[in-house]
Amino acid sequence: MLDERRFFDALLEKIKQERGLDCTQYKPGFLKRRLAVRMRARGVKTYREYMRLLDDAEYEKLFETLTINLSYFFRDASTFKTLREKVLKPLLREKAEFGNRVVRIWSAGCASGEEPYSVAILLYELLGKELKDWRIRILATDLDVGALEKAKKGIYSQFSLKGVNARCVERYFEPLPRGEYALKPEIIKMVKFEQHDLIADPPPRHLDLILCRNVLIYFSRQQQEKLLHAFHQALNKRGYLVIGKTEVLMGAATSLFKPLDLRERIYVKIPVKEMEDA
Ligand SMILES: C[S@@+](CC[C@H](N)C(=O)[O-])C[C@H]1O[C@@H](n2cnc3c(N)ncnc32)[C@H](O)[C@@H]1O
Repeated sequence: MLDERRFFDALLEKIKQERGLDCTQYKPGFLKRRLAVRMRARGVKTYREYMRLLDDAEYEKLFETLTINLSYFFRDASTFKTLREKVLKPLLREKAEFGNRVVRIWSAGCASGEEPYSVAILLYELLGKELKDWRIRILATDLDVGALEKAKKGIYSQFSLKGVNARCVERYFEPLPRGEYALKPEIIKMVKFEQHDLIADPPPRHLDLILCRNVLIYFSRQQQEKLLHAFHQALNKRGYLVIGKTEVLMGAATSLFKPLDLRERIYVKIPVKEMEDA
């Protein structure tokens, strides 16, 4: 029994080291039940045995079981609240002060569009009538062409809207027959979707904000570090980075970004000059 507990902790540590996924963010009961599902599927009885089976394919299955691979509007409501208050509001204020009304945002690994559209809704609300005076560029990319096609259509099931309050549903979605909802064209047109491979393709440049949530965990530690360096270069001087709530920045990447809100996994780029002085 004692051994199993030790191996459970060792399993969580292995997942954290290899994929940057902080499983302690999950409720222990939930985590154990989901791990049990995968262990049964693979015909093993102990955490020790399961640890040995964890390769790329098994990680993928585990993420499916933990439902990390799903997306919905305003996923992690508190993150979007903090994003609005601590990132978007100051960013818009600062840009307006300097007369530079251009905002460049990248949703990297956007799946079927719920994340970039949530950001678009926040900006639409924050800017109101002034929106027409701004150039808001929200680029959303993913490897999965099918997901991007769905994103461009902007039609969602009730599940995708589970984090959206009634006022917002009424304002930005049109109910369709068969229980689906169509996102309004004024929000759809704020986001541009493109296929992009985070491992093989260069990132866009001069960004104010990158959201790369629940994607890093799919990559090896080495790939994550390379990608985070690329994000650092892609961001403007004090650009922001948001990662998933269960993800952790690892290794060298911790010297590239400083936390703005650690709980919500929102970081600010440390400019190269400050990195050299440190
Ligand atoms: C769990 S979803 C994240 C969706 C959204 N960011 C969220 O947090 O709700 C992970 C997405 O990463 C995408 N992905 C995986 N590998 C990728 C790669 N090499 N390049 C681009 N996207 C990738 C998948 O296609 C999937 O849509």
